[in-house]
Amino acid sequence: MGELEVIALRGLDAGFPTGKVTWIRGPSGCGKTTLLNLVGGLDRPTAGSIEVGGKNIVRFSEADLVAYRLERVGFVFQFFNLVPVLTAWENVEFPMRFAGVSAKDREKRVTELLEAVGLKEKGDRMPDQMSGGEQQRVAVAVALANEPQIVLADEPTGELDSENATLVLDLLKAASRDRGKTVLLVSHDPHASQIADATVKMADGRIVGTDELPRGTSTAIEQA
Ligand SMILES: Nc1ncnc2c1ncn2[C@@H]1O[C@H](COP(=O)(O)OP(=O)(O)O)[C@@H](O)[C@H]1O
Ligand SMILES: [Mg+2]
Repeated sequence: MGELEVIALRGLDAGFPTGKVTWIRGPSGCGKTTLLNLVGGLDRPTAGSIEVGGKNIVRFSEADLVAYRLERVGFVFQFFNLVPVLTAWENVEFPMRFAGVSAKDREKRVTELLEAVGLKEKGDRMPDQMSGGEQQRVAVAVALANEPQIVLADEPTGELDSENATLVLDLLKAASRDRGKTVLLVSHDPHASQIADATVKMADGRIVGTDELPRGTSTAIEQA
């Protein structure tokens, strides 16, 4: 930040369980977004290592990181991040085109993903013809498009009412439970506690606590 060096994370040491939802909490500015951006290969640390599937992604070349982001990671951001000039269908298909998925497989996967997020009938809508909740459900389908191992969700319900927030969090839960995704969820949403398998608390760029949560049996989760 200008002349000032900001240390966003320092001495952070954490592991996140494969195929589970880890809920990351902590006050604004504690480094949650920085942590997700590092794991997602959007940012590089000045020191340390980040092991994903036995590989240290910090050592990846730029080209390796491009492939990593495309194939191994799905992102869900606070502000939906759909391409405004593409339909819901085309948004979900978009990352598959870059990954070289065949037209036939794209068709099959987009249909399946839109159905999974409850928007099978709305594939031809433009983002501005959908509610925020619907847009964020499309964004979840986009994040899952290339069958990534990891889903990173940074305050994905920050702009949603509680009903839509619950729907979106339940979709992230389903991604872990039904598809084996490793989900890192940053959220202030109270429903996050019900979908999380583990929780990590951050402060000042460090982990200050971890918990295994008791397995919940919320009806909302069962319905997802
Ligand atoms: N691009 C940036 N330039 C300078 N400082 C930044 C930048 N991004 C984040 N920071 C700082 O890094 C720290 C962690 O930020 P961030 O990861 O966004 O926290 P959180 O997501 O928990 O609110 C904060 O002190 C923030 O002000
Ligand atoms: Mg943040």
